Amino acid sequence: MVKIKYGCSMLTEDLLEKMEPLLTEAQRWLEGLRKAKEVGFMDLPYRDPSPALELARRMKETTDTLVLIGIGGSSLGAECVMQATGKSKGFYVLDNVDPEKLSWVLSSIDPRRCCFNVVSKSGSTTETVVNFFVVKSILERHMSWGELKKRLVITTDPEKGFLRELAIKENIASLEVPPNVGGRFSVLSDVGLFPAAYMGVDVGALLEGARLALDYCSKPSLTENPAWVLTAFHYFHYRGGKNIAVMMPYCERLSLFVDWWRQLWAESLGKNGCGQTPVKAIGTVDQHSQIQLYNDGPKDKVITFIVVNSMSHDFTLDENIPEAFAYLRAKTLSEVLKASYLGTASALYKNGVPFITVEIEELNERSLGMLFMIYEMATALSGYLYNLNPFDQPGVEEGKRLTKGLLGYAGLEEKAKEALDIDAFHAKYVICM
Ligand code: PA5
Repeated sequence: MVKIKYGCSMLTEDLLEKMEPLLTEAQRWLEGLRKAKEVGFMDLPYRDPSPALELARRMKETTDTLVLIGIGGSSLGAECVMQATGKSKGFYVLDNVDPEKLSWVLSSIDPRRCCFNVVSKSGSTTETVVNFFVVKSILERHMSWGELKKRLVITTDPEKGFLRELAIKENIASLEVPPNVGGRFSVLSDVGLFPAAYMGVDVGALLEGARLALDYCSKPSLTENPAWVLTAFHYFHYRGGKNIAVMMPYCERLSLFVDWWRQLWAESLGKNGCGQTPVKAIGTVDQHSQIQLYNDGPKDKVITFIVVNSMSHDFTLDENIPEAFAYLRAKTLSEVLKASYLGTASALYKNGVPFITVEIEELNERSLGMLFMIYEMATALSGYLYNLNPFDQPGVEEGKRLTKGLLGYAGLEEKAKEALDIDAFHAKYVICM
């Protein structure tokens, strides 16, 4: 179960009540988009996952390592699922075009035992096609294209794009990204489900959690609807000048959940001069790095804590530890962790920093599925409140186009040159070391 509690949010019952009509409107707008089939992420938990499950089962018959080639919404969700469920062993991601990373991954795997999942909704993202082409040419030194094809799974648009054409032409196993689901909302589609199933994650429970969250998120009341609470909390404080949103789980298994949420929040809501900058912090580690600033620096932040009540492992301190540490005797690590969260929250409260706490009973597939859906809903509803389209990403597309121009893509070279005079910029502003 996932519960959301307020800290010092300054959101009084009164103010919350005033927000209900606006949230009702936002919910109606989102439901309208869903009915018109323009937005599909809320339908994903009800789709039949068996194509992804069956393909994962088949691939596992001959391989035991998964290399996912994809970036952003095409990789972050799967990485988060593996970390949160403890299934990362034998799972590699090639997202960046960093040659040292590629070299490390290639030296860590036995290609004959690998399945390669190339994931790209558009089928043309530079990083993804570059990594795919390089991996393909390296592997073809060790095995034929026919052999390599048997280890490939392409996840892309059902009809268009380079990867779809390749899958059809070369008869490569493939899965689909529904056209009405954007990359950062796609973790519960085949984009996340195939890797999850391959790595042994309970996909049924993940989807069940998302369905349960949708039930809660359909309730027209701030006391029952977690997405409404998150939306109201962020919107109210954003309007009050809090333009930084920190997410701080007291659970390292949720570190990549924050990366997933950062993309969702930034790409969906950072538009038209609007947006709250999402910042990652991990408890307790960042108490010793960031909390000074949050308590005592500019009052421009809201904090979301995520706490897990029941950890999968725990350790107890001995009774006979030195007298100076008597207060720690017989304490468990999770008690120390909880006290650290409460201590940090109390200091923030004292300093008037708004925070909210998402409390999870146990971190497993079901609660993770809930978290994904609650945050996707809150992001979509926030888009309505900020009066922007949370489902496009013109800023990302622009950067993608200019990168292609710089690399010599016909027709885009001039645009890239116009955007920035690279030589003049480097001459003036770059410090060489
Ligand atoms: O959320 C998004 O739409 C983006 O961040 C994409 O996921 C990312 O750019 C990768 O795109 P694609 O899946 O088309 O390769």
